[in-house]
Amino acid sequence: MKKKAVLTFIFISMLIFACSTSKKQAYLFPTEMSPAIQSSYQDICEKGKVLYNLHCANCHNKKKWGTDIIPDFTFEQLDAYLIRAANERHDSDLTEEKVSAEELGMVITYLTYKPKSGLVVPHKYIDRH
Ligand code: HEC
Repeated sequence: MKKKAVLTFIFISMLIFACSTSKKQAYLFPTEMSPAIQSSYQDICEKGKVLYNLHCANCHNKKKWGTDIIPDFTFEQLDAYLIRAANERHDSDLTEEKVSAEELGMVITYLTYKPKSGLVVPHKYIDRH
């Protein structure tokens, strides 16, 4: 009887451990997206997150109570072609040499599906070209 209780305890502990360690950041994928696609998008998002922190976070994150808040860009703002020209600061800091098209694509995927933070960036894009 006692042995059974101990075994149950070990089993439950292992289950909790497995659940807590495998839990990655939850992204907001549409429900109609298949699990296989979701899993590959999850990998792209993880890479995009690293690239975002490297190339964008310095200018775009806001600090609140010591934690970084990542803005919720709108779908319209996340247009790869417009992003490069969206702001004068982007002209020098978002060149093809610094952030490749593929890398920018991963950042955009990450920003599209990341959990919402409630921080909105006003749409200031003016057609400068
Ligand atoms: C050197 C600073 C800097 C860096 C680096 C930077 N941005 Fe920006 N970005 C700005 C500024 C300034 C604006 C104007 C809006 C604002 O004041 O926040 C802007 C605007 C934007 C907008 C909104 C455009 C609009 O007006 O609708 C998007 C989307 C954006 N940035 C994405 C990115 C992404 C993605 C990266 C990284 C790959 C990045 N930015 C890197 C400074 C920067």
